[in-house]
Amino acid sequence: MPDDIRHLNYDLEAGDEIPSNPLTSPTFRQVAETRLGRRGMLMGGLATAITGFIGAGASRPAAAQGAAPAAARGPAIGFKPVPVSAADTVMVPEGYSVQVLIPHGTPLNGQPATKTVLEMTAAEQEQAIGTHHDGMHFFPIEGREPEQGSSTDGLLVLNHEYVAPRFMHARAAGQSIGDSRIPVPAGGREADEVRKEIFAHGVSVVRIAKQANGQWQVVADPRNRRVHGATAMEIAGPVRGHALVRTKYSPDGTRVRGTLNNCAHGVTPWNTYLTAEENWAGYFRNLDQRDGRPNLPREHARYGVPTSQARYNWDQVQGGGDEFERFNCSSTGASATDDYRNEVNAFGWIVEIDPFNPNSVPVKRTTLGRFAHEGVVFGPPREGRPVVAYSGDDSMFEYVYKFVSARPFNRATANGSLLDEGILYAAKFNADGTGEWLPLQHGVGPLTAANGFADQGEVLVNTRRAADVVGATPMDRPEWGAVDPRDGQVYFTLTNNPRRTEAQRDAANPRAANQFGQIIRWREANDDHTATRFTWDLFVIAGPADNSRVAGGAALNADSVFACPDGLWFDADSRLWIQTDIGESEQLRGNLAQFGNNAMLVANPITGEIRRFLTGPIGQEVTGVITTPDRRTMFVNLQHPGATTPAADFAAGRINSRWPHGGEGVPLSATIVITKNDGGIVGT
Ligand code: FEO
Ligand code: CA
Ligand code: CA
Ligand code: CA
Repeated sequence: MPDDIRHLNYDLEAGDEIPSNPLTSPTFRQVAETRLGRRGMLMGGLATAITGFIGAGASRPAAAQGAAPAAARGPAIGFKPVPVSAADTVMVPEGYSVQVLIPHGTPLNGQPATKTVLEMTAAEQEQAIGTHHDGMHFFPIEGREPEQGSSTDGLLVLNHEYVAPRFMHARAAGQSIGDSRIPVPAGGREADEVRKEIFAHGVSVVRIAKQANGQWQVVADPRNRRVHGATAMEIAGPVRGHALVRTKYSPDGTRVRGTLNNCAHGVTPWNTYLTAEENWAGYFRNLDQRDGRPNLPREHARYGVPTSQARYNWDQVQGGGDEFERFNCSSTGASATDDYRNEVNAFGWIVEIDPFNPNSVPVKRTTLGRFAHEGVVFGPPREGRPVVAYSGDDSMFEYVYKFVSARPFNRATANGSLLDEGILYAAKFNADGTGEWLPLQHGVGPLTAANGFADQGEVLVNTRRAADVVGATPMDRPEWGAVDPRDGQVYFTLTNNPRRTEAQRDAANPRAANQFGQIIRWREANDDHTATRFTWDLFVIAGPADNSRVAGGAALNADSVFACPDGLWFDADSRLWIQTDIGESEQLRGNLAQFGNNAMLVANPITGEIRRFLTGPIGQEVTGVITTPDRRTMFVNLQHPGATTPAADFAAGRINSRWPHGGEGVPLSATIVITKNDGGIVGT
């Protein structure tokens, strides 16, 4: 890393992975720049990027260019924006109300909690809402269509990304512990404490219904269910049975226990839920060495599997046991089926869950690739055509991907097996505003046995490496994607990348030491989501008024400044909801202080108007948003309030957020319910 950005440490949050793309390491860049010449690497530079690709004509919607004035105005956005806030509370516009629903620890049986989160056992956590709420969908209770049906009764399905051990275990009180692991006692961690953390991860399926008084409540239902870090799952697609996923637990490589670091989500056209495994590598460790140095296979090294301590030390438990030892991916046995050297290869996938069938076994759909999946979003399903899904790899200098199914979508018979056959592509964003999808197919181009890819399973387990080899564009941390229901354009947040150097700037990632992020969008050739070419522009370069641009050319202003876009969702009227995740070590500090606490804004994709709709409490990020089908109830997740509490303050009992309950309780991740007091559509 060059000296000028070495002092910036906000790029490595507790929840984020170590950058591991060798193609963007300083040494590689030096070699490449010498060979290609510096100008060749720049591909245009900032001036071209901003003048050429902010709201470029190539991808402007036809409606905006001419005939239809109503369509050209875009969706109605009618509320008075809320100001930037640093208060430990939720602020929404005048005329809106907020209810807190399902904070961490809420029992799934519909009864009130009888214990605090600190008092809960692992077994109780397994029957309660997890923590670090993230991607989420409201499935209307009829169970037929993901966006049609009841607006008062449904299954809320949400991810639980990671945990804050200091806010889960009573023994943490008084100790100097930051927002990461808790110290390991002599002899190892207590098994029940580790299980509690494992069970607090994953996914919750919980029935909720609107009551006569207008408040929402959990309703007891046989479908209420927790899927977590130890739930048995199937492996499907080309990696099923592959040598790289055979373990002591699953010698035939067909099963694995658990899903971890479930960030954002997806909803299939056949009404199931997809959960994305994002920063999973850190939960494992590999201590293998050769000549005194770490010696990891590429499917570990390219993903940043730690070579010393695992994120929460789950492999260091008193008495050990298979359920914990699997987090140690060192080669300790005689062969791969005698140990867990391949356990981590069964993570990094998109996992399908049928929320309406509580007995269904979750399935890891390996055809969609293995990386730090932020989430997954589908193009509009079309009868008789392939299904198309987009997913970003949220790490610095990683890629955007697209999956196109081999078989066509047929509404009457569609199911998850559609995701098992098809082509995975990585995106290349050219400097002239065009782009192409590069297939990651064994035997095509450089992905051959001669180049180290023996079969499609190896390509998929090493998706990042395959995308390196075909020449995809390294991006500024791709997070959520969203597809505009009006014109099919695909939007992706690129949250930030402080490690990008001047020499590494390109048209799609135009800023060096990018603290504030941008939102890119593209239009597939002929508006066909299966196309292999597209045109793109930057919808917004986020930041303060003097360092931001929206499509159309205006800067952000007091009502709209934001940084680090992450969550992204289009409602049915084409309002684009943008959620921010300024990292814990940067919130309310330095250049990021001016943005206050993390927030949610709404944008008009046609005019570029943006207004701040919500600001959250201290230390949290706003992530996950969905409405009921009538758009009159909105659910939003607020993750990790209080995470910015310094270790010394925690030891002294000075926790900087007590949201949502106030008093002396620990801060809790929770879902909030937002309604307009006049019963109107949220955002109008
Ligand atoms: Fe889990 Fe990239 O946010
Ligand atoms: Ca995120
Ligand atoms: Ca985060
Ligand atoms: Ca983020």
